[in-house]
Amino acid sequence: MNADGRSRLDQTSEWAALGKHREQLASTHLRELFEQDPGRAERYTLQVGDLHLDYSKHLVTDETLRLLRELAAATKVTELRDAMFRGEKINITENRAVLHTALRAPGSADIEVDGENVVPAVQHVLTRMSTFADRVRSGDWKGHTGKRIKTVVNVGIGGSDLGPAMAYEALRAYSDRDMQFRFVSNVDGADLHEAVRDLDPAETLFIIASKTFTTIETITNATSARDWLLTGLRAGDEAVAKHFVALSTNAEKVSEFGIDTANMFEFWDWVGGRYSYDSAIGLSLMIAIGPEHFREMLAGFHLVDEHFRCAPPEENAPLLLGLLGVWYGNFWDAQSHAVLPYSHYLSKFTAYLQQLDMESNGKYVGRDGEEVSWQTGPVVWGTPGTNGQHAYYQLLHQGTKMIPADFIGFAQPVEDLQPGLVAQHDLLMANLFAQGQALAFGKTPEQVRAEGVPEELVTHKTFKGNRPSTTILAKELSPSVLGQLIALYEHKVFVQGAVWNIDSFDQWGVELGKVLAKRVEPALTEGAEVEGLDASTKSLVATYRTMRGR
Ligand code: F6P
Repeated sequence: MNADGRSRLDQTSEWAALGKHREQLASTHLRELFEQDPGRAERYTLQVGDLHLDYSKHLVTDETLRLLRELAAATKVTELRDAMFRGEKINITENRAVLHTALRAPGSADIEVDGENVVPAVQHVLTRMSTFADRVRSGDWKGHTGKRIKTVVNVGIGGSDLGPAMAYEALRAYSDRDMQFRFVSNVDGADLHEAVRDLDPAETLFIIASKTFTTIETITNATSARDWLLTGLRAGDEAVAKHFVALSTNAEKVSEFGIDTANMFEFWDWVGGRYSYDSAIGLSLMIAIGPEHFREMLAGFHLVDEHFRCAPPEENAPLLLGLLGVWYGNFWDAQSHAVLPYSHYLSKFTAYLQQLDMESNGKYVGRDGEEVSWQTGPVVWGTPGTNGQHAYYQLLHQGTKMIPADFIGFAQPVEDLQPGLVAQHDLLMANLFAQGQALAFGKTPEQVRAEGVPEELVTHKTFKGNRPSTTILAKELSPSVLGQLIALYEHKVFVQGAVWNIDSFDQWGVELGKVLAKRVEPALTEGAEVEGLDASTKSLVATYRTMRGR
């Protein structure tokens, strides 16, 4: 029994049943599952909005899925889901509601936190963002010297960077191509330097994105950006108002920094950083793609929210994907999960998912405060196809590790391309389909021999297969489809956190490094004696100082 009165996950009968079932499936091959069941591909396919989701290449049978759903029922996934949608404070360690779903709810919805409907405030900020975005896009918003804004630089980190940066890349084809959008996150000065070195300050708008407005990287970069701007313009603080806006929950800190709160776009503590890019944090994206496309994206999110909230367990895509992750992580020892988008526009998609998944579920302490004795969140990784095929796919196909993968692809390119490039799209997608097939079905020694391969090379050229993957297809990568995809992954992560009984909405694990960095800094700059520094770090600091000529 847990401290919260719930049975420990690995002591439930549902867990034991899955363990037993896993043993029964140990020698089953996907080849057999497909042979025995001609309707498998069709049956193991879901359509959610514009997303076509094929999960037939998973090491599951109807029985597996039934047992997984029973585990979800035993761990009260739907109860926690409903509590989230109702605005209950399910982020227990921070005593906060978790309501990113309210950011994309229709204006008529009533979602309450502490007895107050939050939807009108959400809509109010969206309207303010739209007005501002339109002014910047039309050139009505002028810089200090009267020039129109040509470049927007978003300064933020983690959830205040990855979301807008990923979505801007994803929706580039919908963006105003006469403007430039850049994203600065790293405290390494090279990041800001490279972002601004060819810009005219008179035509540059900085968006300082920080939920807390205390994050050292962001505040440091924002201060340097202000110095760069004022030096370049040969102006005083009066120039800041036309070139700096803030996205934050912390008006006091924004004003302390010197940004007029009239130029601040607000969000709320019930929006987690990694769930925030459809809040004010998306302002740079909204300027890029325009308010209408932004609203289409929100509608896409909402569509999947509603699916997650209402679809029965058998047809509930985030529930299914979450449970499949549990199946591999907890019963097949899979340590990682590859996300492989076959779209160049999704080049930052996996980096975005890394924060979403690993900051949410990378935890060894349960909601009851006790250490868990089961695996939690996987390592999420991957890059767009086909590049990965010529790098790490070797390990996916013939390595010793099980790595479930998600393939994501689109039926058509988003922009009118020259004819040759349109044809390349088929080649891209042929690769996606081929990889899923090769992973699942492999190549038997008999097939290899039949090709006349010499006996001593047969094992080398054999592919065992039986490596699971999901394929997600949509017609095109539109704003709505992007929203649908992100919501799908958000809720998948939710499901896994619920099953593992962890709080997916805090991130205490990032604190220690921050505190230590602050403590170590004076040792680097002033050679200060820092209390509690271990011998290895002390020696590294000394070497660093020598290298710096100090
Ligand atoms: O790294 C921890 C974290 O708090 C993330 O969760 C968050 O997205 C990021 O830092 C940035 O925080 P803020 O938006 O407050 O600057």
